Amino acid sequence: MSIQWYPGHMTSARKKAAETMARIDVVIEVVDARLPEASTNPMVHELRLHRQRPCLKILNKADLADPVATKAWLDYYNRQSGVKAVALTSKNHGEVARIPALCQSLAPHRNDNVKQLRMMIMGIPNVGKSTLMNALVRRKIAKVGDEPAVTKSQQTYELSVRHAITDTPGMMWPKIEHDSDGFMLAASHAIGRNAVNDDEVAIFLADLLLARYPALLAARYKFPVDGLDGVAVIESVAKKRGFRARGGEPDFEKAASVVLQDYRDGVLGRVSLETPQTRAAMLAEAKALAQSRAAPAAAVPDGTAAASAGEA
Ligand code: G4P
Repeated sequence: MSIQWYPGHMTSARKKAAETMARIDVVIEVVDARLPEASTNPMVHELRLHRQRPCLKILNKADLADPVATKAWLDYYNRQSGVKAVALTSKNHGEVARIPALCQSLAPHRNDNVKQLRMMIMGIPNVGKSTLMNALVRRKIAKVGDEPAVTKSQQTYELSVRHAITDTPGMMWPKIEHDSDGFMLAASHAIGRNAVNDDEVAIFLADLLLARYPALLAARYKFPVDGLDGVAVIESVAKKRGFRARGGEPDFEKAASVVLQDYRDGVLGRVSLETPQTRAAMLAEAKALAQSRAAPAAAVPDGTAAASAGEA
């Protein structure tokens, strides 16, 4: 699957974010705690490094993520320079209230009671930026919705005389390099409904859950999952729930959407789609694959390449 989902308004959003970056002190980067790297927009990193701005990385929706994986991710990010990572649930206002002080600790030069600390929230669609903004501003300012990219323009709010925050629209980047990232983003609904095939996404998700959380799958759908693959899990959900398509066969599409919705709503239990370890393994595999694809071109299969090299 190749996902290229980059609506036109996101190009102007990037340009505007680059301009705002010049006049803020700290970036608050919101990612999904269940897939922190896959939901990290490389453009945020690039824009932030260009202006050397520190980052409070928020692993949001921590209530839905596997706490062991979240702890591993926090350790991973907290080793990075200029980054402080915290896990939180932005629906919980008490947790959100810690954010200004955390940002302040990243910009000690703005802690003199004179200069206002200027923060900017960034992140891909549907990671919870609007929910976080509403909790920070303590009123409903941002439209919250489970449909990617509902916030379309930047706005700045004064939280107090000492803190101001700029909200930015959800930004994607032009090309998602790894297919598995595309699937994770689609499963978590960061990518729009029309950009992906839900059946494929659900099969990917079911395979991943089988590998990492088979007991949760079995408990939710009430059938043994040993020996099944992702396709068989979805088919079994259709049979178990009595979903029938027109010809009477199991309704795969309906079961696929149920599995996806159950994951999105957190009813499967607390799951994380990636850990620092699985990420490192995926990247190593992708690198090896790229090298093996490049290798035949460099090899000299029949002497032709060597001869022409010699002639040059
Ligand atoms: P965005 O601005 O980044 O696009 O995201 P937004 O705040 O609109 O949130 C997207 C969905 O994620 C919303 O769900 C929101 O409630 C949910 N959400 C945000 N933060 C958290 C969190 O920390 N934990 C959990 N479990 N969910 C979170 P929705 O289904 O559209 O709305 P709702 O019915 O939950 O209100």
